[in-house]
Amino acid sequence: MVSGGGTNLQAIFDKIESGYLSNCRIVTVVSSNEKAYALKRARKHNIPAICIPRKDYDSVIDYDKALTNHLKSYDVDLVVLAGFMSILGEEFITAFENKIINIHPSLIPSFCGKGYYGLKPHIAALEYGVKVTGATVHFVDKGTDTGPIILQKPVYVNQDDTPETLQKRVMEEAEWEILPKAIKLISENRVKIADRKVYID
Ligand code: GAR
Repeated sequence: MVSGGGTNLQAIFDKIESGYLSNCRIVTVVSSNEKAYALKRARKHNIPAICIPRKDYDSVIDYDKALTNHLKSYDVDLVVLAGFMSILGEEFITAFENKIINIHPSLIPSFCGKGYYGLKPHIAALEYGVKVTGATVHFVDKGTDTGPIILQKPVYVNQDDTPETLQKRVMEEAEWEILPKAIKLISENRVKIADRKVYID
């Protein structure tokens, strides 16, 4: 599920094509934004890509139902939020319990939660003056960015970083590596959750 440029989606396509993700298939791509370049990336790969915008639905419950029905029709094993910017409701999260993962551009629990998406975690990291930031892949629970953490990777902040340069490095050095890696580990059934902690075999 995507909302923007889809570079994380591209990273997954690349890792499927290189054979790194050998038992994974993307069956559908859903965008919350009809202008998302991610939709074009999906169509280039002949993957059914659809836009389901939040504004077309009166309530989160109706939106959740539309998303759930679409994904269930493809019988998905895993839902990957790869830069998906709409908030999902309880109905959706319950329908895919422990089967939704999200990539977030900071080291959770820093610079996460409501309002921290896209460039905003990087703006906040620079304002705070942290020397290290990074990315996190986590399971999605009913909170915002509060689910069990699967993988994290740190990235050093440079003194002359802008939010844009930092975002680019976090993507290149962390996100595009740990999101496909988490998918691989889950596809190999090596990820277990116990007492909100994630254990990898
Ligand atoms: C990525 O940096 C991702 O971590 C972030 O949005 C960007 C999407 O880029 N996600 C969030 O902020 C979620 N809270 P992309 O469309 O090029 O993959």
